[in-house]
Amino acid sequence: MTERIMIFDTTLRDGEQSPGAAMGVAEKLEIAKMLEQLGVDIIEAGFPISSPGDFQAVQTIAKEIRNCVICALTRARTEDIDVAAAALAKAQRPRIHTGLGVSDIHLKYKLHMSREEALEAGVRAVKYAKRFVEDVQYYVEDAGRADPEYLFQVLEAVIDAGATVVNIPDTTGYTTPEEWGGLIRAIRERVPNIDKAVISVHCHNDLGMATANTLAGIRNGARQVEVTVNGIGERAGNASLEEVVMAIHTRRDLFDFTTSINTKLIYPISRLVSDLTGFVIPPNKAIVGSNAFAHSSGIHQDGMLKHRSTYEIINPEDIGVPVSEIVLSARSGRHALRHRLQELGYTLSEQEFERVYQRFLEVADKKPVVDDRDLEAIVSGETWPFMFETYELARLQVICGTNVMPTATVCLQSVDGKEICHTATGVGPIDATYKAIDAIVGEKVELVEFTVQAITEGIDAMGKVTTRIKAELPVNGGDEKVTRYFMGRGADLDIVTASAKAYLFALNRMLAAKQQTRNARKEAAEQIKQTLDQMQATHGSAHVNDYWGIGVMREEELK
Ligand code: KIV
Ligand code: ZN
Repeated sequence: MTERIMIFDTTLRDGEQSPGAAMGVAEKLEIAKMLEQLGVDIIEAGFPISSPGDFQAVQTIAKEIRNCVICALTRARTEDIDVAAAALAKAQRPRIHTGLGVSDIHLKYKLHMSREEALEAGVRAVKYAKRFVEDVQYYVEDAGRADPEYLFQVLEAVIDAGATVVNIPDTTGYTTPEEWGGLIRAIRERVPNIDKAVISVHCHNDLGMATANTLAGIRNGARQVEVTVNGIGERAGNASLEEVVMAIHTRRDLFDFTTSINTKLIYPISRLVSDLTGFVIPPNKAIVGSNAFAHSSGIHQDGMLKHRSTYEIINPEDIGVPVSEIVLSARSGRHALRHRLQELGYTLSEQEFERVYQRFLEVADKKPVVDDRDLEAIVSGETWPFMFETYELARLQVICGTNVMPTATVCLQSVDGKEICHTATGVGPIDATYKAIDAIVGEKVELVEFTVQAITEGIDAMGKVTTRIKAELPVNGGDEKVTRYFMGRGADLDIVTASAKAYLFALNRMLAAKQQTRNARKEAAEQIKQTLDQMQATHGSAHVNDYWGIGVMREEELK
């Protein structure tokens, strides 16, 4: 019988560790919902002890998503496991993912532990996690550079302690496919109790080999793969979900396996993740890049016209690339727009649809044909900002050109309906606009990224702007601050308006996060306390911990 490869998606955990990704709870939930529709088996929703926001995201996803295993990452420490267990309390199928480094480099420089100490700590962590959940996954960090003999010992010990899945990460993306496949094979041959656990592979892309290594892992016995949408993740990223899944589907002759993925949702989820993280997909990105199915040279076009199979190994429709039959214009009504948006994979609430429709009419008024790329830009610009809207752009006027001082007058409407206007000058129209917005909003932020893309060809192209701001947010109600990044985006036929919207979007998210951080902290502490109380009632043992400055008291240190 054809075996199934389990798809473990870590877009919301390792993917979120990409510098500047910084998604909030609402965005993470939106991605989790689409991952569920896509059919992934496991969603790694976050690293709950890392911040109250991460805790809240895992907790929300655990409550809302019922058809996937929901996994939370921890270090091999009791306090991390407590917090993960509390965040997963409402999950239908919870999994705790704990672990420790195994390479001598990690043991010596990061952990300051001997091999024996690390092995014992790993075993203790698995046993402790088993008190909360049945399904415990253990990661052996930096396995790609570890002594295999020690690695085998650790795996045997943690499986004996109850690990149901063993995750073998090539943390630094150091290995080659032959080496990696050989290591997975050796694990199967040399770890005596390996049949009691699933082998998972987690490959990073530092040398561009994450997908190839993951596939080598499968061919040598891995039955779970850890991937992210668009391959986002620490440094050069992780193995990309779309590449691994489509390699299995396309090369059935080499990979006699199935996955539960509905490939038709690959393209829509790729766009969603790009929109919500602000990470633009390179045009030549395998599977989902805008050029992945474009044929520009004469010879290729000639071949394609004779038969698609000459230059195309994947049918774009199989991954959900929209093939447009309806032309949308100023005469198109709500019905046609709704239909096209559904075909593109968008599920919008009534409120979101109405905003998209109003923007569509404005764009269609100025452009004879509104194509799919315009629609994607409109949806990405309109479906998110209102969730965080403290300020809305009411009006904007700029004066610029040669021999004039660029000047912008911006009017923002605040949540209480008041309109506040300010005029500022700058080195250019966008600088002047941002200065005027800063004067109204009155928050100290640093603009760290500003990108403009023309979405369609021609002089009437829609412009899409992505901004990223850096802010210091207060924590613990005192002077302590954390640095956080907020992404914003805006689309418009007018590039200055798109820029103003993108900046305001980021600022609104920052203002919402400031409020949320305060509440998240209190709510998370309460949830952790409840979980620990239950734990104490069952096991009669507990210890004292301090979570993000909020003491959740437990009585004794666990042995
Ligand atoms: O790359 C890595 O080693 C990881 C582990 C935490 C699983 O992401
Ligand atoms: Zn990783």
